[in-house]
Amino acid sequence: MSPLPPLPFRVFPNPRAGTPGTVVLSEAGFRRARAEIASWPGYAPTPLRDLPWAARAAGVAAVRLKDEGGRFGLGSFKALGGAWAVAQVLTHELARQGHAKAAACAELEAGRYAEATAGITVTCATDGNHGRSVAWGARRFGCACVIFVHETVSQGRIDAIAHYGAEVRVVPGTYDDAVRAAARAAREHGWFVVSDTSWEGYTSVPVDVMQGYRLMPDEALDQWEGAPPTHVFIQGGVGGVAAAVSVQMRARCSPAPALVVAEPDRAACLLASAEVGEPVAIPGDLDTLMAGLACGEPSLLAWRELERAAAAFMAVPDEAAIACMRLLAGHGVVIGESGVAGLAALLLAAADPAAREALGLTADSRVLLFGTEGATDPELYVRLLAQSG
Ligand SMILES: Cc1ncc(COP(=O)(O)O)c(C=O)c1O
Repeated sequence: MSPLPPLPFRVFPNPRAGTPGTVVLSEAGFRRARAEIASWPGYAPTPLRDLPWAARAAGVAAVRLKDEGGRFGLGSFKALGGAWAVAQVLTHELARQGHAKAAACAELEAGRYAEATAGITVTCATDGNHGRSVAWGARRFGCACVIFVHETVSQGRIDAIAHYGAEVRVVPGTYDDAVRAAARAAREHGWFVVSDTSWEGYTSVPVDVMQGYRLMPDEALDQWEGAPPTHVFIQGGVGGVAAAVSVQMRARCSPAPALVVAEPDRAACLLASAEVGEPVAIPGDLDTLMAGLACGEPSLLAWRELERAAAAFMAVPDEAAIACMRLLAGHGVVIGESGVAGLAALLLAAADPAAREALGLTADSRVLLFGTEGATDPELYVRLLAQSG
């Protein structure tokens, strides 16, 4: 019996599934990111939680969830990406200015190049978590930071960014409008854009962001006991984390588990792109509670990986996300609204014979999920849990 009410959802098995033709993330780049990030003060792998109740509900052998709520005290996996990319921007700029050939994070943090880095400004657009990571990295590594948010980003999230000393600017429109505003301001002022999404001609910083994300699935595979996962469900915004998870699964598992990308039904730009066969922007106000996933345009790099590496794309409604937050909370696991789309997709698909078959879910399946954030906006978390279900 599914613990979710019957809710509408979509499954699109990927007709182009196969091996990606382009390598978007190098192994050497990941090794460097892992060594540096693992040396940051406060680093600890986040827990991989066994969810036997979810396995029973989904009729599969195992469901395990990587719980990112405690990541570096920032509340989400995004702490791994933006902050690492800030360090890389500073390292490259210090080399260009002739201060240091390859400054390490520890040297930046110790203030060895503080005078030079204080004159550098990083900027980005965010719906919360990425901006928090960039602001945290900027404070940690000693540069200035201006973060752009769109008008529906909650005050709690804005405050959490400002807490790290960043200037926060609110712009009208959606996340995608904030991306453009950050790029414009950077051009005008000579700032460095540290974006978690990529486009034609802007790829090297997002590569660093995604290399940082790879530490999350890398840890999960280290922690996984027994036969490896057969399926991975991961939520998609611009697709960066899904692509990073995909690359890491392919690097470490043979065969790689089936990768299912789960998006909000009101912001399913990756599913729409898969249907069309090329990256497309979707219209509309992207009005979903899953704020971290409210993206209308795929990241170009992410698309290059997912276009062939994803087994299927799914779109799930907000109601399913809230129900999953509540289910997890009932079992003592705190995951925020943008961190549960994978669980929602699994439970909805598992209860539907056609979707189950399309995804190859059986009683023997072992499923890896990522709870990509904790209660990053605690007030909203409490309010959503209190809504009558
Ligand atoms: C908690 C959480 N999960 C998943 C995502 C999706 O990441 P991406 O935009 O790289 O697909 C985000 C993005 O902000 C997020 O905040």
